[in-house]
Amino acid sequence: MTIRPILTVPDPVLKQVSKPIENVTDETRALMDDMLETMYAAPGIGLAAIQIGVPLNVIVMDLAREGDQPNVKYFANPEILETAEDLSTYEEGCLSIPDVFESVERPEKVKLTYLDYDGKRVTEWCEGLYSTCIQHEMDHLKGVVFIDYLSRLKRDRAVKKVQKSNKLKTGI
Ligand code: NI
Repeated sequence: MTIRPILTVPDPVLKQVSKPIENVTDETRALMDDMLETMYAAPGIGLAAIQIGVPLNVIVMDLAREGDQPNVKYFANPEILETAEDLSTYEEGCLSIPDVFESVERPEKVKLTYLDYDGKRVTEWCEGLYSTCIQHEMDHLKGVVFIDYLSRLKRDRAVKKVQKSNKLKTGI
């Protein structure tokens, strides 16, 4: 397993639309393993493959609280089959937009289908943080980041904040 660099806004790669995979293979699992290690190191609770520059419909997630047992979930080719009418609002963040947190409104529950680490199909209703997180990660697969839901002013401010802190880190 390897920790890979996480792309940050405004990297144009993050706007790419990812593609479905054909099957969950050992190569897919190696990607999932790298993604999980990268996510834990960041640290974060979810990561889409495009965030490490791989344009495939693959996501990893672990919503366990600190100190709890890990609760790892791997998703290949996730699709939302149904969406509840009720909305909920969460303060979202993103490893590609470090240190920016803003409220985003999304459907409270979604019915999700995907292939797991073993390539088995799973179909289930997601709610709460799970629902928010999977919708956030699936947006990445479409080239969308959560600040795209904000006003232009807030979005520009977020991008500038990330660029400024990247400059400080690299000393450029
Ligand atoms: Ni994100």
